[in-house]
Amino acid sequence: MKKVFVNGYGSIGSRITAFLKDDPEITVLGVGKYSPDEKVKVAISRGLNVYVPERKLDDFKDFKISGTIESVLDDCDLVIDAAPGGHGYKNKKNIYDPKNLMAIYQGGESTMGDEAVSDLLFNSRANYDLAIGKKHVMQGSCNVTGMGRILEPLRDKFGDNLLRFDVTLIRRWADIEQTDKKLQDTIEMTEKPHHGEDVKTYFGKDAPLFVRAIKVPTRQMHLHIMDIRFKDIAPKPSEIHEIFKNEFGVATLWTAKGTKDVRDYADNMKFNFTDTNMIHIHANMTTSIGDTVQMMYSDDQTGIVIPENHMLMQAMLFGKSYQDAFSHTESIFHMNEKKKKLEEHFARK
Ligand SMILES: NC(=O)c1ccc[n+]([C@@H]2O[C@H](COP(=O)([O-])OP(=O)(O)OC[C@H]3O[C@@H](n4cnc5c(N)ncnc54)[C@H](OP(=O)(O)O)[C@@H]3O)[C@@H](O)[C@H]2O)c1
Repeated sequence: MKKVFVNGYGSIGSRITAFLKDDPEITVLGVGKYSPDEKVKVAISRGLNVYVPERKLDDFKDFKISGTIESVLDDCDLVIDAAPGGHGYKNKKNIYDPKNLMAIYQGGESTMGDEAVSDLLFNSRANYDLAIGKKHVMQGSCNVTGMGRILEPLRDKFGDNLLRFDVTLIRRWADIEQTDKKLQDTIEMTEKPHHGEDVKTYFGKDAPLFVRAIKVPTRQMHLHIMDIRFKDIAPKPSEIHEIFKNEFGVATLWTAKGTKDVRDYADNMKFNFTDTNMIHIHANMTTSIGDTVQMMYSDDQTGIVIPENHMLMQAMLFGKSYQDAFSHTESIFHMNEKKKKLEEHFARK
């Protein structure tokens, strides 16, 4: 049994912890909290031990916390850092490195520049094997993970016939449970989005991929609009959809009118956290015009990276083969079952 600590209990940390508790190969040592708020009680009520930074012990005197983050990490096999972007790097320098700890970081960190947390950005579809034997790895962000689930299968199928990918990321403003974060009535433009460069770390640094991003006032997923140029006449939409029939974490939907339809369905079906944990190709929007395929898919911002963290953890902790890790992740997340249900519900009429 390996011992895992989840440092941070927000959108990502709370989800990862919930699934890890169902994993018979893992003992969850507890979670790290930094603010003395209601979520401390929520975590404790879910049977979790809560640890806090030593310097903040006094702030938590009214809560039944289990000790300091610094001390719990002395007896830990791997830490999953789920801190706000940038804090993962600081944690690496200040706590994990001095304790020689194995750590997974989230997509708000970077694998480039002075504050790189790792030289590997993980995407199970692209580079699972590279994570085996690594001590520090960053899980790609939700958008970067979602793009990989489309780009890799396209490249496997069409290879040199692909000329160029142009992607517009329409990013959600906030997560559903971030009720304190108000949506602004604007469409925000993102200068120099990191997503394209992040994807190129696994898709190839010279890949003809061009990404731009805007942020819109919704909590209901991201939407990617992708134009794919081919050397010759582009394949028909049905040929594109066929590629994703058996892809892990990709559902092909025909009748969702918007991203909220998908989220509402997940809610009705009592999927954990109302997550689908995948991307959804909106097949009714796929067109083929001359040398170009236009497609759109939505990306479950909070859910998509959770099974990925689980795969990554297995590569790092146990050195499992892709297939073994995949089967174990599937037994906990039931992704195929969710995909089937989504595809049946949103089937072509
Ligand atoms: N939300 C998404 O859709 C999404 C998707 C993919 C990747 N990510 C990435 O996942 C990471 C976490 O995002 P999130 O959305 O879960 O953020 P979040 O909801 O704001 O939660 C962040 C958590 O980290 C805790 N925290 C604060 N300072 C910390 C520190 N120094 N070390 C460790 N934990 C600390 C916070 O504790 P307190 O609340 O107690 O202050 C909070 O529990 C980011 O890198 C983000 O880019 C997010």
